[in-house]
Amino acid sequence: MKTIVAPSILSADFSKLEAEIKKIEKAGADWVHIDVMDGNFVPNLTFGAPVVKKIRKSTKMFFDCHLMVEHPESYLQDFKDAGADLICIHVEATKHLHRAVQAIHDLGLQAGVALNPATPVESLAEILPYVDLILVMSVNPGFGGQSFIESSVEKIVKIKKMLKIAKSKAVIEVDGGINDKNVVAVKKAGAKIIVAGSYVYGAKDTAQAVQSLR
Ligand code: DX5
Ligand code: ZN
Repeated sequence: MKTIVAPSILSADFSKLEAEIKKIEKAGADWVHIDVMDGNFVPNLTFGAPVVKKIRKSTKMFFDCHLMVEHPESYLQDFKDAGADLICIHVEATKHLHRAVQAIHDLGLQAGVALNPATPVESLAEILPYVDLILVMSVNPGFGGQSFIESSVEKIVKIKKMLKIAKSKAVIEVDGGINDKNVVAVKKAGAKIIVAGSYVYGAKDTAQAVQSLR
């Protein structure tokens, strides 16, 4: 599987989201990474399903919705209706992770689970056979432009091993502080989906930035 580059629109100019999405599409990005924050699970607010529904009209690109919200199960139908292709929820955000993953699949969408930096990989053990994607947070979720936490590389290596043992086809996504330098180590460790917000949207040449993450 080739590397998938998923720019995060958290670093886009929210006053012209359509143009900002077209910009990454033209630059060769594969997925749009959509950071939904509720001000509870993380100390920041972004937007919800109504905004996703509006931007759905701007592109056919794959919508990778990263829900940094408490009780994600309450919003799954809304994101499905808004046009999500994949919904990723945090293992720390629900008491009923298996039920929520099942509910995402019942909606006909791909399901991902995300781990905060301090959450051990062992918390994935029972859910691994049921998910399409594991998201390793390489910063504390809530804000763009933070520094990459180096120990995330070893975490990806551990998850890669777990997936192999479980004969799982789930893919590993990494999110937070990624640039053209540290991307080399995370890809070597086993990450196939590369999220980057400030690196892509802050670049002078967007196409070159996207290409440098492949
Ligand atoms: C952080 C978000 C990330 C963030 C990445 O809470 O989940 O997707 O936008 O931004 P950078 O690449 O700037 O760290
Ligand atoms: Zn994210």
